[in-house]
Parts: sequence; C-alpha cells; structure tokens
Amino acid sequence: MKDRKKIGSLKRSHKPSSQGWLLRQLNDPYVKQARYFGYRCRSAFKLKEMQEKENFFKKGQRILDLGCAPGSWSQVAKEYTQGFVLGVDLLPCQGMTGIEFFQGDFCEPEIQAQITSKGPFDGVISDAAPSSTGHQATDLLRIGQLAEDIWEFTPGLLRPGGFFLIKAYHTQEVQSLTAQWKQRFQRVSYLKPNASRKESKEIYVYASGYRPKVVLQ
Ligand SMILES: C[S@@+](CC[C@H](N)C(=O)[O-])C[C@H]1O[C@@H](n2cnc3c(N)ncnc32)[C@H](O)[C@@H]1O
Repeated sequence: MKDRKKIGSLKRSHKPSSQGWLLRQLNDPYVKQARYFGYRCRSAFKLKEMQEKENFFKKGQRILDLGCAPGSWSQVAKEYTQGFVLGVDLLPCQGMTGIEFFQGDFCEPEIQAQITSKGPFDGVISDAAPSSTGHQATDLLRIGQLAEDIWEFTPGLLRPGGFFLIKAYHTQEVQSLTAQWKQRFQRVSYLKPNASRKESKEIYVYASGYRPKVVLQ
C-alpha cells in the first residue's frame, strides 16, 4: 500500500519499468545512506564492504579507477588512501575534490597513454560496464570483452605487489581470464558484496600480490 502511494506520486509519464526502478531507488537503504554520507551513488557501499573484507587500500597509495562516473568509488578510494586517485570515464565527472579525472574511452590508445603517464599505481579498480543493449547474450559478450581490454592494459600500470579489483560476470571469457590472473597474482577471489543487488549477476574479481612477468633479455 505504502509502495503504491509512492508510485502514485511518481510522474504518470514514467513507464512501468522505470517506475520499478524509481521505487527500488526510493526503498533502497544504500541509496539513502549514500545521500546521507555524501557519496555520489550507492556503489560506494560495495567498495567499502570489499575493503572491510580484504583491506586492500592503504594510506598513501596511488589508485586508478576505470569507469569512475559518477564518482563514488573514487571518493571511497581517496577516503581510505588519502593518496593520488585518477578516475577515467566516457562520461563527464567533474568537481571531485582531490581526484584527478580524464574523460574518454580507456580502451583507446590516446587515453591509455595519458593514464600510463600518471602511473605506476598500487591498485587498479574497475566498476566499468558497457551500456546495455537489452540483448543478454550480446551484453555478456561485451562485458567479457571489456574485462579483457582492461586486463591487457593493466599489467604495465601496476606496481609489483599491487592489486586489481574488477567488476565481472560468470562468463567463459572471465573464467579464462581468471586462469591468467592466477598466474600473475598471489591470490585471486570472487567477491559479491551485500550492496550488490541479488538479482544482478555481477561479481567482483579481486586479485592481490601482482607478480610482473620477467622479460628475459
Ligand atoms: C556502474 S558505472 C560506475 C560507477 C562508479 N564505480 C561509481 O561508484 O560512481 C560504470 C561506468 O563505466 C563507464 N565505462 C564503460 N566503458 C567505458 C570505457 N571503455 N571507458 C571509460 N568508461 C567506461 C560508463 O560510462 C559508466 O559511467
């Protein structure tokens, strides 16, 4: 009943699917907490939960946040490290105090060159997700491809001992990437924070103790 009243107060122009989304937002405790604590979105609590479990952020670290908009992961990274945080996104993401930002596609060589000029980093975090096409099989393929692109570009940026935290889905691509990550990191695990909606198939892959490949001359 309470819910129906809330829906009733939403504009008539909202379609049922967007009404569902709005209602979920209104009832979501993480959305309320994000507003209260000044985070730009509820995702902040996913990262905070994972930090509480794995303790990857340390004071003074340099962190790269791929797919950072609207900016709550960068806010959390800054809060814990007080160090250098660089956020990158296709979308604008201005006005984050103490956080550097590049706008562009991190799969593109020019943006990668700009990012590399700011490295190396102690941690690379990515909550990046391609916009949905509405076709699940295509979306999963694109998500797997994005994880692969991020991984191709990350090794040259990470300091030995560094960590990597990336949003993923249980796809074949991600399983084969996990096999590669296991060779390059001391420990690899899958995380599903409580703040990640149960109906969402997203997981986070956390890899720590980066071991760069030794190139023999
Ligand atoms: C779920 S949002 C990230 C939310 C963010 N972690 C936060 O807490 O505010 C995913 C973001 O990934 C970005 N993204 C996806 N592919 C990208 C790419 N190739 N280059 C840059 N940004 C990308 C999207 O523009 C979107 O803003």
